[in-house]
Amino acid sequence: MAKVFVLNGPNLNLLGTREPEIYGSTTLKDIEQMTRAAAHKHGLEIDFRQSNVEGELVNWLQEAGKQAVGVVLNPAAYTHTSVALHDAIKAIGIPVVEVHLSNIFAREPWRHHSHVSPVARGMICGFGADGYPLAIDALAAALRTGKK
Ligand code: DQA
Repeated sequence: MAKVFVLNGPNLNLLGTREPEIYGSTTLKDIEQMTRAAAHKHGLEIDFRQSNVEGELVNWLQEAGKQAVGVVLNPAAYTHTSVALHDAIKAIGIPVVEVHLSNIFAREPWRHHSHVSPVARGMICGFGADGYPLAIDALAAALRTGKK
């Protein structure tokens, strides 16, 4: 079965208790299950990971470039700061779908800029946990077109 990496950045391990008024009460474990179910519908297997460390996310993107057909990435706060994630996505030859639980454009102005969006295949934000299965559907559609 073709593999998709689902990578989650800093503080997403705290979902469920972290600012539930913004991020909802769904835990990352729940999101993993929802994402896996969506992936199975498309005949895709997922490798679901979370790290609070920027370099680890860079290493995982590079690993995905060798092992996976695509990536769903919630870079969390690194969205707004990380040139390293931008460069890593550019370096790997597979589509990356950016996902955010919250609508980053409806929040503080400094969240409106993403270093990831210019190199992502596309972005889904503002739909809470449902954004993850939506991102899997989007990635599956992108894979069907064969375009990065
Ligand atoms: C987030 C949005 C980011 O601005 C924030 O730093 C996060 C989560 C989201 O999923 O809505 O940690 O990526």
